[in-house]
Amino acid sequence: TGMFTYDPGFTSTGSCDSEITYIDGDEGILLHRGYAIDELAEKSNFLEVCYLLLHGELPNAAQEAEFEHTITRHTMVHEQIHHFYRGFRRDAHPMAVLCGVTGALSAFYHDSTDVHDPRQREVASHRLIAKLPTLAAMAYKYSIGQPFIYPRNDLSFAENFLHMTFAVPAEEYKINPVMARAMDRILILHADHEQNASTSTVRLAGSSGANPFACIAAGIASLWGPAHGGANEAVLKMLGEIGSKDRVGEFVKKAKDKDDPFRLMGFGHRVYKNYDPRAKVMRATCYEVLEELGVKDPLLDLAMALEKIALEDEYFVERKLYPNVDFYSGIILKAMGFPTSMFTVLFAVARTVGWIAQWTEMIGDPHQKIGRPRQLFTGHTSREFVPLNERG
Ligand code: CMC
Repeated sequence: TGMFTYDPGFTSTGSCDSEITYIDGDEGILLHRGYAIDELAEKSNFLEVCYLLLHGELPNAAQEAEFEHTITRHTMVHEQIHHFYRGFRRDAHPMAVLCGVTGALSAFYHDSTDVHDPRQREVASHRLIAKLPTLAAMAYKYSIGQPFIYPRNDLSFAENFLHMTFAVPAEEYKINPVMARAMDRILILHADHEQNASTSTVRLAGSSGANPFACIAAGIASLWGPAHGGANEAVLKMLGEIGSKDRVGEFVKKAKDKDDPFRLMGFGHRVYKNYDPRAKVMRATCYEVLEELGVKDPLLDLAMALEKIALEDEYFVERKLYPNVDFYSGIILKAMGFPTSMFTVLFAVARTVGWIAQWTEMIGDPHQKIGRPRQLFTGHTSREFVPLNERG
């Protein structure tokens, strides 16, 4: 009982205090621990950003070397987990597989599930950051019937992920440095984004004291939806559906029609009412990758035509709907050879560090309570039970 605020979608509710990520949606600013996202994407690397998100500061050389060593030491998964994969259908969506096996990590790493022990929390963080790429690549390999590729600790985080995804035992896999750099950027750009749906899910799950592996599995489930991480996959599907440039106008019209539920995927954001700073970097990276790989993709021309029309259209201008990060990431990933079903999986690999940093912050917060929203009850008030033989 007592007063509460009715706020569906939590558009005006601050659920926690946090020192990790700052967003000014009107200005199009995103800072991690005070550092601008475009500068991090340009000058840093993913593991450094992981350290920054977890610890609050960029690492010095010794700290960076130690962190890299710790993460690479945890990249393998328990051999028994291979059997877990074999229980899935080969045509299962890799997000379904990832959600299942990540939750299953709780069953394998009992020694890092005590949330009251800071050392166990740290080990769980390292395990999750290190193992998610391995689990993600395994989901892909399983879906195409290729053998699992073990991680290689002499490679960078991004290179190792490309290796586990695209290498086959029969021949040497040469990592293209432009692709590795682009992968690293994609990981940095998706690493954290304050209290979005999946992060709030992780915090809410964790607020009951659930173990971190279970909480991250909950985050993956929330990320899967097309209004959130599933948008990059939905963008590619939509571009395929539009098919050719001359049909762009028709689909823009559909998106503006209030009687039609269709939305332009990859446009709009709950917080950014300006150009998403991540989208700017992603757009530049997109052109770099396509040029390097010599990809001439008609879908890209189509995407650019769509971008131009939407940016000039009164409907989109009025509502401040700009292309978001998912609009471009899908195109890059397609050019790199990832199937669309892996796009959201990649997002999950990158976001794991954000989730775990936010979870760790929550556990250490003295104001932390179990998350327990209230409701505005609109159902029946008290009524008398009707026996079965008297019901119409
Ligand atoms: N196409 C057409 N109209 C749109 C779109 C769109 N993509 N997005 C918003 N609108 C309209 C919406 O109909 C509403 O119009 P009106 O005021 O006339 O009723 C207005 O813009 C405001 O939209 P909203 O639904 O109140 O905004 P929201 O903050 O609840 O939704 C969103 C944000 C991202 C869910 C939404 O923009 C959307 O569905 N976009 C497409 C999916 C997408 O690209 N999602 C990725 C988000 S970024 C990455 C991530 O978070 O994972």
